[in-house]
Amino acid sequence: MTMQESAGAPAAPNSDPHVRLGPRGFPLLPGGYGRSAYHVGAAPSYAVRGEGHRLWDDRGRELIDANNNFTTLVHGNAHPELVEAAARAMSTGSCWGIPNDDEWDLAALLLDRLPGLDQVRFTNSGTEAVMSAIRIARAVTGRDHVVMTRGGYHGSSDVALCAGGSASVRGVPQAVVGDVQLVPLNDIDALRQTVEEEAQRIAAIVIDLLPNRAGLIPVSREFLRAARALADRHGILLVIDEVISLRLGANGLSGEYGITPDLLTTGKLIGGGFPVGAVVGREEAMRVLDPRQQGSIAHSGTFSGNPVSMAAGAQALRLLTPETVSRLNQRGEDARRAVSARVAPLGWEVRGFGSLLRVFPAGATRVDEPTQQRLWWAAYDRGLLLSSANLAALSTPMTDEVVTDLADRLSDAVISLGEPPR
Ligand SMILES: Cc1ncc(COP(=O)(O)O)c(C=O)c1O
Repeated sequence: MTMQESAGAPAAPNSDPHVRLGPRGFPLLPGGYGRSAYHVGAAPSYAVRGEGHRLWDDRGRELIDANNNFTTLVHGNAHPELVEAAARAMSTGSCWGIPNDDEWDLAALLLDRLPGLDQVRFTNSGTEAVMSAIRIARAVTGRDHVVMTRGGYHGSSDVALCAGGSASVRGVPQAVVGDVQLVPLNDIDALRQTVEEEAQRIAAIVIDLLPNRAGLIPVSREFLRAARALADRHGILLVIDEVISLRLGANGLSGEYGITPDLLTTGKLIGGGFPVGAVVGREEAMRVLDPRQQGSIAHSGTFSGNPVSMAAGAQALRLLTPETVSRLNQRGEDARRAVSARVAPLGWEVRGFGSLLRVFPAGATRVDEPTQQRLWWAAYDRGLLLSSANLAALSTPMTDEVVTDLADRLSDAVISLGEPPR
């Protein structure tokens, strides 16, 4: 097969004025996008400025920003205290090749809210955090296999992509795919059977407690308890992926469940709007990263722990007090109730927890892509920016009035679609 055959048809000519072409006539960015997750069918506008809960695009439109860079900006755009923290760090040199104080600060703040865990290793993204957590688990246990719940998303490393099933693993070596066992969300029998069948080969059970791509259905307490018990019984590491869900509880979403993992991965909000990820874990596991130890595993990253992400992230965590989390969560509850009252009669269901909400056809775990894109555009046309998967994330600058407005715009958008496709 030639490279052209294997890569699929060349992109259709794109007349979008945003798409800049290179010397051979191709868009400088594949498909015209810098991230797959920007894809919403027709070409979206560009962001030019954000302030608080508002975002302006290059067509002059003002939007309520409920995308918040895919749930990252829990304090909205350009929060003055985060800008100040980042500017302070940038003005003294944005990154160095020796340790800095800001990484200790952010580590201390993270560990304060994650009782039972001892140490932090920073990365540059959630993808790297999950990939590193899995490597730690493999190194600690001397085993290769990983159990994940089906349909989740844990970033775009080879191993993490396997959670999405066969549709997600193009380009992932078969050997990697073969190391991952998927179990249906909340199916305790399947989890037990999968683990017990080959316990001595399993390094980690990786769980996202509110997997957006798998229908934003929460993991049940019983399922998480079973995972914890199976991990303990068989010397497997329990990894809870809180890249998104950390915002949902004063002690993360795992705190709401009262279950401590061996390793917790996070990212997004803990960089205050700058690139970040972190593995947080028990010392017994994290010690494999200690470079003073014989046989430690290598983990670095030129920008890992950079002072800008660390300082802005520390300020973001300081501002995200338990009271703030509970106020945000209450507003999320209000928004879910308000949207549900208007869209449920048409056959739509509003799901979510805390400050996250998303609309699905009642009973469905996924929305077909054309419907998802129609809903995205219907919301956009009403001045509401959702994630491409239609997830709405509240931010602290959103007042009760803004959340009411957001809920109205989302309801209007859903209603404009009529009944969901069956
Ligand atoms: C649960 C979860 N894990 C991992 C990731 C990957 O994080 P990042 O996009 O920072 O690489 C994401 C991203 O959305 C996520 O939702």
